[in-house]
Amino acid sequence: MPVKMFDCWPKRVVSYPGAIKDLGEIVKGMGKNRVIVFTDSVMKDFPLITNVINDLKNQGLNASLFADIGPNPVVDMVHKAVDYMKQEEPDIIVAIGGGSPMDAAKAANVVYTHGGHVTEYDIAIGGITKITPKLLPMIAIPTTAGTGSEVTYVGVITDTEKQVKFGVLSPLLLADVAILDAEVTATMPPKLTAYTGLDALTHCIESYTAITGFPPADAFALHGIRMIARSLRTAVKDGNNLKAREDMLVASMMGGTAFSLNGLGACHAMAHQLSAFFNTPHGLANAMLLTRVMRFNMSSNPQKFADIAEAMGADIKGLTVEQAAEKAIEMVQQLCDEFEVPKYLDDIGATKDEIPALVERAMMDNPITTNPRPVSAEDVTKLFEESFKN
Ligand SMILES: NC(=O)c1ccc[n+]([C@@H]2O[C@H](COP(=O)([O-])OP(=O)(O)OC[C@H]3O[C@@H](n4cnc5c(N)ncnc54)[C@H](O)[C@@H]3O)[C@@H](O)[C@H]2O)c1
Ligand SMILES: [Fe+2]
Repeated sequence: MPVKMFDCWPKRVVSYPGAIKDLGEIVKGMGKNRVIVFTDSVMKDFPLITNVINDLKNQGLNASLFADIGPNPVVDMVHKAVDYMKQEEPDIIVAIGGGSPMDAAKAANVVYTHGGHVTEYDIAIGGITKITPKLLPMIAIPTTAGTGSEVTYVGVITDTEKQVKFGVLSPLLLADVAILDAEVTATMPPKLTAYTGLDALTHCIESYTAITGFPPADAFALHGIRMIARSLRTAVKDGNNLKAREDMLVASMMGGTAFSLNGLGACHAMAHQLSAFFNTPHGLANAMLLTRVMRFNMSSNPQKFADIAEAMGADIKGLTVEQAAEKAIEMVQQLCDEFEVPKYLDDIGATKDEIPALVERAMMDNPITTNPRPVSAEDVTKLFEESFKN
């Protein structure tokens, strides 16, 4: 049975260009003054981060920085962060970056306040029951428009020993404040914009079609698809177009909310394994699998796929529901082709001999439980096999 969690709405979302400048006021309004900022090892040298630290200090707040985090954050990074937190004794966490620093911050928050090893909080072994309200408050500021982690209740961490991505998950992990500032996403280069945007699209599509079907989540997902369809191309081509950047950031937040409520599907369950085995960027891993999984799932609810086609701007007048549903796959494939997403897993260095291990882990990954069509290990094997050229 999938976990149904209809209490996973964002707590507070602040959304306007330049909003990051109000971070200090927001922290003070929460009655906190020892801020630890989490970011990644590349972004730490961006003026954005230097300015945030200086601003916080100029406002009389105590600000420290932890930036030893990379893409697909691993267990060791979380424990290094916890050691640093023990030294700095923060009373609030501010995570600035893509999904990786936001997720590492969530996991570090759990271990810092509850003790033990981060793998003990894996949802697959009942970690959710060990997470209590003694967590530190958290403010999340996404600099990519993709994961929606600023409004989700999960931190995704890679266990390099077991070669698996696992979720530290609890409704208590929802950030207290999500600050959406389109200006901070404008530095994303085109490929990163495209891949993270396709992650947001995957969240919207998988949550809209998930078996859970909670109507408010469906509404967020479908409108998220509309916004992505109208703005992702512009955001990729013209990174300084703030309107497109803002659309993408809001759509990503809506996708995150939608999947917190409805869950995801087989595409994410499979994509997580590509990242764990081959360090594939998360958005790219989803994009390479998305249309194959959509085709597999289409028969479960063709109307929903027809809705997706319409939301993406397809002219479905006069078409049968099945023909319209087919258009959804065409539209998504067209986007992936325009962004030059590699078609086959061979192209990203994946190897066929790993398929049994990828399948085994995908079948244990939480998102598989909300896939709209029952999915067996044989089905996942076939989907992976079809994704290789040779
Ligand atoms: N918690 C969730 O709900 C959730 C949902 C989906 C994915 N994830 C996880 O999130 C991670 C992926 O996050 P991501 O796709 O945001 O990428 P990321 O955080 O891994 O960042 C990728 C790269 O982009 C750079 N970057 C980030 N913002 C930038 C900016 N504004 N300008 C220039 N460069 C920038 C980073 O420095 C990094 O090198 C994966 O580990 C994935 O599993 C989590
Ligand atoms: Fe994702």
